[in-house]
Amino acid sequence: MEKKNLDWANLGFGYMIADYRYVSNYRDGRWDDGEIITESNITLNECAGVFQYSQSCFEGLKAYTTEDGHIVCFRPDLNATRMKDSCERLEMPVFPEERFVKAVEEVVKANAAWVPPFGSGATLYIRPYMIATNAVIGVKPADEYQFRIFVTPVGPYFKGGAKPLTIRVSDFDRAAPHGTGHIKAGLNYAMSLHPIVDAHKNGFDENMYLDPATRTKVEETGGANFIFITKDGKFVTPKSDSILPSITRRSLMVVAEKYLGMTVENREVLFSEVEGFAECGLCGTAAVISPVGKIYDHGREICFPSGMEEMGPVTKKLYDKLTGIQMGEIEGPDGWVHTIL
Ligand code: PLP
Ligand code: COI
Repeated sequence: MEKKNLDWANLGFGYMIADYRYVSNYRDGRWDDGEIITESNITLNECAGVFQYSQSCFEGLKAYTTEDGHIVCFRPDLNATRMKDSCERLEMPVFPEERFVKAVEEVVKANAAWVPPFGSGATLYIRPYMIATNAVIGVKPADEYQFRIFVTPVGPYFKGGAKPLTIRVSDFDRAAPHGTGHIKAGLNYAMSLHPIVDAHKNGFDENMYLDPATRTKVEETGGANFIFITKDGKFVTPKSDSILPSITRRSLMVVAEKYLGMTVENREVLFSEVEGFAECGLCGTAAVISPVGKIYDHGREICFPSGMEEMGPVTKKLYDKLTGIQMGEIEGPDGWVHTIL
């Protein structure tokens, strides 16, 4: 199979139309068999549930080429389960978890030419999602849905790759207590658009959201969880019912403890503690691990000792181990690396 002729090393995090997508439709209480198609546009009724009441949720994972030429992805079963959780909270029909994983395999195989080569620095971003497709005008769940997966080759999420980011403490909330912060609902991201545009306008890379009830605890950013390294080398990461349970963060907790012998604390993190940490990073599928050099809090700057030039030394170790496992260079725990081709 011949790879597409792309400038892999210089890709940003953007959408590019690949050749194939996977589609399955839900009608009369059941999912159809699903198929790989070439059409990248969707035609829907003007009153479709997704347009009116934002009944939509999504997932994100990546496919990688390993050094020995296989195509793999990382813990797709956890994306399937998280999408099930999203669907249940949004009154959408669950796409069966084993079918989710099979559909990921099918669409990646069909688009093998779009999976960036090993060592190129790029990966294939896989975006499964579900939308309400039939007309709904009273506020209620739709009866018909589409589950779709498209793929697109991507480079780093943050411009500048591994350069430390500057984050600002947001005055907006991302999620309500007992709301939808713990699932991957499109509506959570709509809420974050104004704060992110405003952050960029003011020279910041992302927002740090605090817990909406007390504004004293660290939650997450618009698209990644936080990790912190203490001055005595512990791995600390916030626990909250209103943040997305990041698969990258859950994996890093294992890498830190089992591969690097670190003490791992998954607990409430007070914002007042942050200035005492040695390193800070954002973690997620798109973000991988992006180092944070500085946090701006209403005129006050918290500067981490790791500085604004490079990733902190412990963050770098975590990054190397995690990406080593994802790319098949380091043996990961059973079931983490899922071979597709
Ligand atoms: N938090 C939010 C709000 C996200 O959108 C994402 C991205 O999926 C993450 C965290 C990271 O999650 P994961 O590591 O599963 O990609
Ligand atoms: C991901 O990391 O997969 C995400 O969904 C984050 C994002 C691009 C919003």
